Amino acid sequence: MRFISPLSCPGGKAKHFDKIKAFLPGRFDMFIDLFCGGASVGLNVLEQQLCTKVIFNDLHTDLISFWQEGIHLIELDYLQKLVYPNAKTINEMKAKMLNDYCLNQGEEFLMKNALTFNGKEWGVWTDKRLQQNFNVNKLKRVENVKNLLVNPKYKIKFFNSDYKEIINRYSNNKNIIWYLDPPYYYNKGKPYKHSKIDFQELKIIF
Ligand SMILES: C[S@@+](CC[C@H](N)C(=O)[O-])C[C@H]1O[C@@H](n2cnc3c(N)ncnc32)[C@H](O)[C@@H]1O
Repeated sequence: MRFISPLSCPGGKAKHFDKIKAFLPGRFDMFIDLFCGGASVGLNVLEQQLCTKVIFNDLHTDLISFWQEGIHLIELDYLQKLVYPNAKTINEMKAKMLNDYCLNQGEEFLMKNALTFNGKEWGVWTDKRLQQNFNVNKLKRVENVKNLLVNPKYKIKFFNSDYKEIINRYSNNKNIIWYLDPPYYYNKGKPYKHSKIDFQELKIIF
């Protein structure tokens, strides 16, 4: 079974977990999801009990706050009233929210992520995203991940660091699987101009 992250992130790898898993060795002590985004890969490693120690890292501060604290603040019954029965349009939902709702940090991050194209939380909310992506299934995913994250048998850490800091911090540890899914190098055939990732260096290190 694939475990689906409640966050939509550009380049999310939930659908590809089985292919990624095929590359993993039978036993390893720690798994590092160095550019975790929606965290699908590390979460599936935990859920499938391939390893009990997982480090998640991402440079996106609000995203890591969501994973560390925000998700645990989400009140599913409260959001359920907002998403069910499904509002048909953003305007209908905003009207509902204006009258009755005050969202906390986790609820707001989840909602913005769900309603915008590619999960970019500063983007425009669309009716299509509302109907397809902010529904009861989404809340079920939140519940599943919350339960996974608080399970005492797992040792999970989140970092909001540049990838190089994590490499320095853990490079002496043995038997680690490093999973690297950096922002894409190419965009429509052209190198990304804004990426601060040193791809050549990454290639040499690993
Ligand atoms: C392709 S996405 C990862 C998607 C993820 N594997 C998933 O399944 O959702 C790349 C991630 O790298 C993060 N990132 C960008 N620059 C970074 C850096 N210098 N250090 C750490 N993370 C970085 C972005 O915030 C983004 O979440």
